[in-house]
Amino acid sequence: MAEKKLNLIAAACTSKGKMGIGINGNLPWRLRQEMAYFERLTKTAQMEGMKNAVIMGRKTWDSIPEKFRPLKDRVNVVLSNSLTECPPGADHLCSSLNEAVKLFSSPPLSETVDMVWITGGSAVYKDGIDSPHCHRIYLTRIMKEIECDTFFPEFDLDRFKLVTDPAVDQDTQEEKGIQYKFEIYESSS
Ligand SMILES: NC(=O)c1ccc[n+]([C@@H]2O[C@H](COP(=O)([O-])OP(=O)(O)OC[C@H]3O[C@@H](n4cnc5c(N)ncnc54)[C@H](OP(=O)(O)O)[C@@H]3O)[C@@H](O)[C@H]2O)c1
Repeated sequence: MAEKKLNLIAAACTSKGKMGIGINGNLPWRLRQEMAYFERLTKTAQMEGMKNAVIMGRKTWDSIPEKFRPLKDRVNVVLSNSLTECPPGADHLCSSLNEAVKLFSSPPLSETVDMVWITGGSAVYKDGIDSPHCHRIYLTRIMKEIECDTFFPEFDLDRFKLVTDPAVDQDTQEEKGIQYKFEIYESSS
C-alpha cells in the first residue's frame, strides 16, 4: 500500500515571536484573496477525475460557518476523539491522522482521492509535520503582529526547504493594508 503524501496549508502572522493562526476559535484576520488561494490549492486535483481531501481537527471544522461546510468539491475529514458520529456534512470521522492517511491510501478512496491537505489546527499540523509522509508546507506569512491564542508549530528548516512553484505567486500580496507572502517548504527526507 503506497501511502499518500501529505500537504499542510496554513496562514500565520507573527504573534509574540510565534506563528499565530487563530484567536477565540476563529481566524485573526479576514483576507478574501488569501482564502481564495486556500480554496484554489486545496480544490485543484492534479489527476483528472479525482478529488482532493482536507483533514482538520474538530475545532477547525466547528470554526467554519455552517453555510460553507463541508468545504465543497473536497472530501472532508474531521479528526476527533470525543465525537462518536461524523459531524453532519463531513465525509469521514477519524480518531487519528494515521487512520485518515490509511483511509486514503487504500481502496476505494485511494482511487478517487488525489492530494491530501491538512488544514489545521495546531495539533493536527504538528502530527502532519512529524509524519514521514509530509511532503510540503504551504505557509502564508502574514507580515503583521496580531494577537493569537493558537499557533503553528515550529518546524525543522534543515528538513523543510523553501521552494518555488509556478502555480504560486512569489510577489508580496496586500489586502486591507496587510502584507503577506505565499511560501512553500518541501521535505528533503
Ligand atoms: N490560520 C490558519 O491557517 C488556520 C487553519 C486552521 C485553523 N485555524 C484556527 O485555529 C483554531 C482551531 O485550531 P485548534 O488547534 O484550536 O483546534 P483543532 O486542531 O482544529 O481541533 C482540536 C480538536 O481536534 C481533535 N484532534 C486534534 N488532533 C487530533 C488527532 N491527532 N487525533 C484525533 N483528534 C484530534 C480533538 O477533538 P476532540 O476534542 O473532539 O477529541 C481536538 O480537541 C481556530 O482559531 C481556527 O480559526 C487557523
